Amino acid sequence: MKFQLSSLEEYQTAYAESVSHPENFWNAIAEHFQWRTKWNRTLEWNFNAPDVQWFIGGKLNITENCLDRHLAAKGDQTALIWEANDPNEISKTYTYSQLLREVSRMANVLKKMGVQKGDRVCIYMPMIPELSFAVLACARIGAIHSVVFAGFSAASVADRINDSQCAFVLTSDGMYRGAKQIPVKAVVDEALATCPSVQKALVVNRLNWPVVMATPRDVWYHEALDGVDDFCEAEVMDSEDPLFILYTSGSTGKPKGVVHTCGGYMVYAGYSFANVFQYRANEIFWCTADIGWVTGHSYILYGPLLNGATTMMFEGVPTWPDPGRFWQVIDKHHVNLFYTAPTAIRSLMAAGIDHVLPYNLHSLRVLGSVGEPINEEAWHWYHTHIGKGRCEVVDTWWQTETGGIMISALAGITPSKPAHAGLPLPGIQPILVDAEGHEILGNEVEGYLCMRFPWPSILRTTYGDHERCRINYFSTYANLYFTGDGARRDSDGLYRIIGRVDDVINVSGHRFGTAEIENAINQNKKVIESAVVGYPHDIKGQGIYAYIILADATQGSDETRDEIIETVCEQIGRIAKPDKIQFVSGLPKTRSGKIMRRILRKVAEGELHALGDTTTLLDPLVVEEIKAGAL
Ligand code: PRX
Repeated sequence: MKFQLSSLEEYQTAYAESVSHPENFWNAIAEHFQWRTKWNRTLEWNFNAPDVQWFIGGKLNITENCLDRHLAAKGDQTALIWEANDPNEISKTYTYSQLLREVSRMANVLKKMGVQKGDRVCIYMPMIPELSFAVLACARIGAIHSVVFAGFSAASVADRINDSQCAFVLTSDGMYRGAKQIPVKAVVDEALATCPSVQKALVVNRLNWPVVMATPRDVWYHEALDGVDDFCEAEVMDSEDPLFILYTSGSTGKPKGVVHTCGGYMVYAGYSFANVFQYRANEIFWCTADIGWVTGHSYILYGPLLNGATTMMFEGVPTWPDPGRFWQVIDKHHVNLFYTAPTAIRSLMAAGIDHVLPYNLHSLRVLGSVGEPINEEAWHWYHTHIGKGRCEVVDTWWQTETGGIMISALAGITPSKPAHAGLPLPGIQPILVDAEGHEILGNEVEGYLCMRFPWPSILRTTYGDHERCRINYFSTYANLYFTGDGARRDSDGLYRIIGRVDDVINVSGHRFGTAEIENAINQNKKVIESAVVGYPHDIKGQGIYAYIILADATQGSDETRDEIIETVCEQIGRIAKPDKIQFVSGLPKTRSGKIMRRILRKVAEGELHALGDTTTLLDPLVVEEIKAGAL
């Protein structure tokens, strides 16, 4: 079985084989990696438990596959390019040999601190090279990394640390973000006040800031490096040992820790990268995501490195010093494959073509989109003005839980149609079902998107709460993995993702549960109750609309709005800030006390005359008040 497919016929053959003989198919793909011991059974699965295991009995270390394996042929090839926030700061590059050395040194520091195989390590760091070293160093020694996006608040960091009982935190003094300098260690300090499991914190010096170091807990990275070895032997891991935990929001409760394991994740991250982007030797791949999200895990680090690619990480933001920054970086580093989010495309589109024209974008060959539906206008702008009409565009649909890209065009091979993710990758078996779970056959149909067969990088559990994993993904429809998305299948069988059908909203490609934001809002002492819904937002895809009941209705001022926003920033982080806050005296509830979110969504969408049946409401007058006050 060819690892990288190169024609539509090859795709069709591979896809057919992956469905008719999935074990043979994945055996052949997994052979392309380096195993210390080969697996003895390919797959055991049961979606009702759920219990999924791949490459059973196999032994490996993913970093040997990302780094050591390439040394003979590519030791001096650039593995990682780091572009700083400030265009005037010199970028850094690391060859495969140098990256292995850096990862080994960080791994040896972690060992010196007492980190052992199976320990959970929270990484709360900005996009600096040490973040990449840290992730890979954990994998090197078999520690389970739990990367927390550096925009989350102290309360969020603490929740995540406590949920997985991390004993170690890796962080930095502060971070650059556009024109701003933002504290990072101080956030960790605040979090650690409520995290008794943490024994040690390792701090990277990025800004030369004076920070408070608690001894003996806190250690400077540059000091800890003193005297450590340049090589660290890789820990031999079982295929099904956890590789990482990554927290993501669901429709209920606090964010859950999605668990991925070593063998299956490796195989699928490597396979999907090679095929979707059609990476060719010596090309430069740039994924603009933050390593704090799954996109950064799979397509800044693991996927590209597993393929011996040159991958770039960027510390800055798309709009600073001006909205031409992405295009300037592509020009500067001759980027060939560029992978970003629709929100970024829409905001740069709004900034105008004058920010694009000064730069030479001839190096580009493939453009990718991820994280949220891309509207046709943005797709065409991307294709025309960035790709100059000659680049392949891949709209990649997947989730934190899937570990890798599931439905997408394979660049130049399978069809790419604006606003459509396209066909499933080999090994991926999507199915559309109706509300009762009956399969919707044929084309030009719409339904709930599920998967009927496991793929190697399907989540294995949600950390510490397997039942939650079962209920969330495997209980809605018997024997199916439920994605939470609605989708359409067009006349050619291409999938178009419509969006979430649960109480999850996707703001600029970031997932939040409405309940999670409501809980945050309700922490404000002036608030009695709240209800949050998403509404269409030109740039962010979805905006956050909050209906709030105050204890004292006379306090419904802009000042109170600001205070509530501040509460959300403290509880979750700036990324979850409500865009609109409407103060109300009541919420539309049924007689059984359930909020009718359908009505709130319609009002937030501005569809005041299409509210449907409101007769079952306890107090229909509330709806009139809400309509009258709509923002
Ligand atoms: O609703 C889908 C949307 O993002 C959700 C997954 O979010 P997250 O786990 O944070 O992962 C984001 C990056 C993989 C999905 O359930 N989504 C992701 N990619 C697309 C998308 N919606 C439409 N088109 C996409 N290409």
